[in-house]
Amino acid sequence: MCGIVGYVGNKPVVDILVDGLEQLEYRGYDSSGIAVKCSDKIEIYKAEGKLCNLREELSSHAYEISKATVGIGHIRWATHGAPSVVNAHPHTCNCGKLVLVHNGIIENYKELKAELEAKGCKFRSQTDTETVAHLIANIYGEVKDLTKAVHLAAKKIEGAYALCIMHNDEPDKIVATKRNAPLVIGLGEGEYYIASDVPAFIKHTKQAIYLGDNQVATITKSSIKIENENMLEISPKVELLPWEPVALSKMGYKHFMLKEIHEQPDIIRNILVGKIKTSDNNIVLDEVNLTKDTLKNLNRIQIIACGTSLHAAMVGKYIIEDFCKIPVDIEASSEYIYRNTVTDKHTLVIGVSQSGETADTLTAIKQSKARGSHILIITNRPDSAMAREADSLLSVNAGIEVSVAATKSYIAQLTSFYLLALYMAEIKGTMTSDNLKKIKSEMLLLPQKIEQILAHKEEIQKCARKYANTRDFIYIARGINYPTALEGALKLKEISYINATGYPAGELKHGPIAMLDETMPVLSILMNGSVYEKLLSNSEEAKARNARMIALTNSTDEKLNDLFDSIIRVPDVMELLSPLIAMIPLQLIAYYIAEFLGKDVDQPRNLAKSVTVE
Ligand code: G6P
Repeated sequence: MCGIVGYVGNKPVVDILVDGLEQLEYRGYDSSGIAVKCSDKIEIYKAEGKLCNLREELSSHAYEISKATVGIGHIRWATHGAPSVVNAHPHTCNCGKLVLVHNGIIENYKELKAELEAKGCKFRSQTDTETVAHLIANIYGEVKDLTKAVHLAAKKIEGAYALCIMHNDEPDKIVATKRNAPLVIGLGEGEYYIASDVPAFIKHTKQAIYLGDNQVATITKSSIKIENENMLEISPKVELLPWEPVALSKMGYKHFMLKEIHEQPDIIRNILVGKIKTSDNNIVLDEVNLTKDTLKNLNRIQIIACGTSLHAAMVGKYIIEDFCKIPVDIEASSEYIYRNTVTDKHTLVIGVSQSGETADTLTAIKQSKARGSHILIITNRPDSAMAREADSLLSVNAGIEVSVAATKSYIAQLTSFYLLALYMAEIKGTMTSDNLKKIKSEMLLLPQKIEQILAHKEEIQKCARKYANTRDFIYIARGINYPTALEGALKLKEISYINATGYPAGELKHGPIAMLDETMPVLSILMNGSVYEKLLSNSEEAKARNARMIALTNSTDEKLNDLFDSIIRVPDVMELLSPLIAMIPLQLIAYYIAEFLGKDVDQPRNLAKSVTVE
């Protein structure tokens, strides 16, 4: 996490850096800072909290910094050291001549710090990053060459990093390097942009170089030199970015999250266009390179993901097993990478990630790739590090998601999983044509059904307010909607800070039922189908313990009025597709509760949208 930016050119640098950081706020917002080359020294400005605080700080120095044309900047998600000005980047060394910004974690910083302290370095912050500033400055003292000092320092650092460094003795230059963290360099006319992610500079240029691990770039306004880890110059590949600058606007909605929830019907329509032409046609999924032979030789599928993407993966497991009859395991990437996972060329490994950058998932993918598995990536970012590892790439096309709490990317991931499962089932011949046809025609109706839910959002808002002042919240479901319960609870936790938990309803009686009393809301995701009656019984059990009962249902059964205090009704949908419908009211409930409680919906505390540290 954290976002870094840099600029060398002829334009006033401050606005370029701060606007770039604004585009990277999804990576963290604990503090921000910039360092710019002024007449005879590098000046550093920092502020705790959101970027608006840095803007305010900069406004009182507008004159001194107005002429600067070289600088670096940082937006922080705190890992080592509290969110404070002293821990904010850029960090510097004792003489103040070297400044740097860092995204990642320096794993051996304690050892390095001890060595540097023994040499007389005085540390000011609690960060791991400051160690790197002292380390490079120390080496620079001997070699008097910033590029070389960075190379030599990199050999001593363990962990993940993307770094931008400036030194006052080599003015008008930025040196950048990376290992297991993203860094991209934008090429303009007599100018270069450096950033953790493309949106930071896409309005200035579409030509870019993705820096490789352990490479070091030395950038001035008229030149760029990239060396590999052996200090040998290499010719980088210049790519044309497939991106248009996007004016990120709330389009009249109070928050990006609400806007993104409303985009979901069109996102499903866009995903399905060309892939399901009619219910009689086969699924078209040209991006997926899975041949009949590969599928025949597969004996299992592993799906790896984190957070919301993990919940999409859980639905993926359910439908792939149902449609394709292939066993599927799912696992949180952070657990997957630290055990002896069994994968080989007969395993299809699917990585799911909105950002395509999540460090845990990326590491897991690289591990399974090395063992010879076919890697299929489902992501919203076809330009991401994970996409570059893919043998098959399924781009979910949800568009830029600004709100930290994922909504539209989840629905897009689910839709993509359905397409993938149907596609594989068609190749393997594991479903009857009637069944295939029925699901495809129902999928084409999903956007309209979601629009019907959104048209009645005020009723959901009323219901949400009724339960807003609770400390805890339980979501129960069974079968294919168990992940919906988990995701509904996650949404509420993330943006309202209410302690919400999702349970498979059958497990309630094995422990969680002890928590129930008249203060506890229990939301039952009661969709028609194979587990309806069972879930009804579990809801009765909760009611018998005086819980405040809420139903989210497509049933028209009037008897539910006796059991539930509140009922949210959704359009009818076949059980196998119900996660795509049931999730929408849960997103709205979380949104309206957080909004009612006055929380920062789009940028909830302690979270970041892209987590590039393990
Ligand atoms: C962060 C975000 C979550 C997201 C998770 C996985 O924690 O706050 O919303 O689900 O990362 O991210 P990915 O980009 O891999 O889907």
